Amino acid sequence: MPASTQPDVMDKLVSLCKRRGFIFQSSEIYGGTGSVWDYGPLGVELKKNLKDQWWKAMVRMRDDVEGLDAAILMHPKTWEASGHVAGFTDPLVDCKVCKGRFRADKLEDARCPQKPSKRPGEAEQCQLTEPRLFNLMFKTFMGPLEESASTVYLRPETAQGIFVNFLNVQQSTRQKVPFGIAQIGKAFRNEITPGNFIFRTREFEQMEMQFFVEPGKDMEWFEYWKAERLAWHKSLGLAADRLNYHQHAGTELAHYARAAFDIEFDFGGTLGFQEIEGIHNRGDFDLGRHQEYSGKKLEYFDQPNNKRYLPYVIETSVGADRTTLAALVNGYREEVVEGEEEGRTVLGLHPSLAPIKAAVFALTKKEGMPDMAHKIADGLRQYFPVDYDETGSIGKRYRRQDEVGTPFCITVDTESVKDGTVTVRDRDTLKQDRISADAVREYLTERLPG
Ligand code: GAP
Repeated sequence: MPASTQPDVMDKLVSLCKRRGFIFQSSEIYGGTGSVWDYGPLGVELKKNLKDQWWKAMVRMRDDVEGLDAAILMHPKTWEASGHVAGFTDPLVDCKVCKGRFRADKLEDARCPQKPSKRPGEAEQCQLTEPRLFNLMFKTFMGPLEESASTVYLRPETAQGIFVNFLNVQQSTRQKVPFGIAQIGKAFRNEITPGNFIFRTREFEQMEMQFFVEPGKDMEWFEYWKAERLAWHKSLGLAADRLNYHQHAGTELAHYARAAFDIEFDFGGTLGFQEIEGIHNRGDFDLGRHQEYSGKKLEYFDQPNNKRYLPYVIETSVGADRTTLAALVNGYREEVVEGEEEGRTVLGLHPSLAPIKAAVFALTKKEGMPDMAHKIADGLRQYFPVDYDETGSIGKRYRRQDEVGTPFCITVDTESVKDGTVTVRDRDTLKQDRISADAVREYLTERLPG
């Protein structure tokens, strides 16, 4: 993994996200819930935009991928078949002194709570237990009886909902192999060491796609999806030099994977390059196991060649929350502004992700400016998420929008009321164009992708 050359902006970002309504700690008034987060008014728009971009690229724009929304609670046998009951574990160690819990395989990355300059086990007083395996699945009960027969799990990945519906989707849509099934949904993992804001949480959203291919053609499709997925991250503005492939080798490979690559993003500071998406060649592991455990044939019938087979699967699996964090980190910058004492903080989000596309200001509350500005904002609102603001100095209003990533600010001033023109300011270049108020929608449409 290459070392990061990017600054650590995480603390500043956490504070901005709370202050401006992107992300709050869950149940904060009760002291918070460990590593669970709530998305506020701007955060929900940002994450929704990201999910919409994924759905558009993976489902809407293709005729070989179908969408699905499977339930979170699945038959418990699903998780026996998938290997999660037996193998979805992390090695856990406890410290008898500080009562801290750590992943035995990640001690190098952890800090001793009592001596943060050392890793757990390194300080003299540490007393670590032997590692024991800890299953990451959340268990609950279906129905009123809390007994083992009614145990169900909160899904730790969305993928299994796709596998068990493989034939339902294939037969109802008459898709032919190769084709894919995509879905976005919540997943839950009782992580031992969650953290780094929304990077590793216990409840998160995944955007997963399983692409079913003929055995033998799997590596060709694996390479195809590897390239496609990297291109998607770049299309959303993630800087090319912050993105990287990481190949899984040997013991790193998951129990189901024949080949795997991560797409990593450089989060800066000590976190550095970390996985945001996994691309796996799962072979016929999952369909084979579900066939075995359910007793139902899951083979695909290749009519032209008159043969039946279990397709191999190429999986692309990306975290919606982790990619949202990547977009925030990627966009965050502080700038000196010429002629101004205070600099500005900018969230240089790709316009397709920005929660607000344009803000409309009345320069003052006089001379009919608010009326005209309201009219413009109302007219735009049916096409774009728009904010209206008439409070504080114009400089402060610009800064407020820069900080949440709004690509354009439209200002109604004294001239506007006289000649029907307004200024449109670009977040990144700070350039201002004076255009007719009637042309604002067209101006924005040309510059806002999608
Ligand atoms: N179905 C394959 C699978 O789940 P994974 O590598 O375990 O593969 C895929 O997860 C993606 O899900 C990761 O690249 C990451 O973006 C996201 N993810 C996994 N665990 C997460 C967690 N605890 N918090 C936030 N995102 C997570």
